[in-house]
Amino acid sequence: MDLQGKHIVLGLTGGVACYKAADLARELIKAGATVQAVMTASAQQFVTPLLLQSLTGRPVATTQWDTTQPNAMAHINLSREADAILVAPATADFIARLAQGRCDELLSLLCVARPAERCSLLLAPAMNREMWAHPATQRNAQQVRDDGAVLLGPASGSQACGEIGDGRMLEPEDIRDALIAHFQPKVLQGRRVLITAGPTFEAIDPVRGITNRSSGKMGFAIARAAAEAGAQVILVAGPVHLPTPAGVQRIDVESAQQMHDAVLPLAAQHELFIATAAVADWRPVAQADAKIKKVAGQGTPTFELTENPDVLAAVAALPSAPFCVGFAAETHDIERHAREKLHRKKLQLVVANHGPSTFGRDENQLLLVDAQGTHELPAADKLSLARTLVGEVARRLPTA
Ligand code: CTP
Repeated sequence: MDLQGKHIVLGLTGGVACYKAADLARELIKAGATVQAVMTASAQQFVTPLLLQSLTGRPVATTQWDTTQPNAMAHINLSREADAILVAPATADFIARLAQGRCDELLSLLCVARPAERCSLLLAPAMNREMWAHPATQRNAQQVRDDGAVLLGPASGSQACGEIGDGRMLEPEDIRDALIAHFQPKVLQGRRVLITAGPTFEAIDPVRGITNRSSGKMGFAIARAAAEAGAQVILVAGPVHLPTPAGVQRIDVESAQQMHDAVLPLAAQHELFIATAAVADWRPVAQADAKIKKVAGQGTPTFELTENPDVLAAVAALPSAPFCVGFAAETHDIERHAREKLHRKKLQLVVANHGPSTFGRDENQLLLVDAQGTHELPAADKLSLARTLVGEVARRLPTA
């Protein structure tokens, strides 16, 4: 319920993607928002107000000449109630009219009339790729950005007209997540954050290896929360099946050595390093080039192991090391082990949890251990915890 208590004006302008706006309305409501749809005359060529009314439970506003409003000022009433105005789809024509400050129909009128300091305007452009690429559209898009609107997308891909390129509307879930992100406090605005996540995989032969049960969910949630908080995030991920959070740059690696080699050259340019990865401590000394075959009577193979580099300790030991946050998955004496890790690896903060009860789950419970003391974050879903943790880290981070 990340949009609980938020009132959203959802504006529809005339594009094929109007059919997706119906889904978007549902996604926003499922996330806890109340939704007031506003449709232009062109949008009503694609879907009916009846559809949006049925989904939102509110009559759709379609005209500024609405005499049912006691003060006859629909544009003022709608924009004063809203926490944000989200126009999806936003056509090339609508963006052009916004860029000019036109007020000749209800939706553009209420965008201009909104109190900008407390009611954001977000636009999800949707149009043919040539229309998006046209210099006039690009000029108008830049103008509305300069005037304070936030553009979500557009995405790239196949278009209703059969062409392929930039201009597709983002998917409803992505627009919902962008709106959720928009409402998060910007406690890491502009800060550079490097994160490791997931397990590593240490190959024995081309088909076998040593790995662990880390799902990467906590690290990915922290990457998302840091990006929502305004940070520039690079996520170095071991082998996991998770989508990359919006706005996060992802580097995929497999082994601990690869993770080390990806992280170390980047670390000094970052202000904050959060090591959530469950890096394998050891790898086989030798990796077979071909699959090791089971041969009757030859017994079982044995593997000699060697230690992997410690990515976190190596970053913390850099002359201009970022603020380093380590994770500790423990089974017992959680705080004692976490504090020992804090000192041994020279970290600013250790985030400890009970390993076996968190791997692969959506819920977690954390203990923050630093030089100042110990602080517990009670059990919650991993994304809520990640947002709280980002807030805690931001408070401790030296000012830029
Ligand atoms: N870490 C790392 N590189 C390694 C090993 C660990 O970056 N080769 C990081 C992890 O991402 C995590 C922290 O160090 O942030 C965990 O430290 P570690 O000493 O490995 O703790 P545990 O795996 O909990 O192991 P142990 O019980 O042996 O202390």
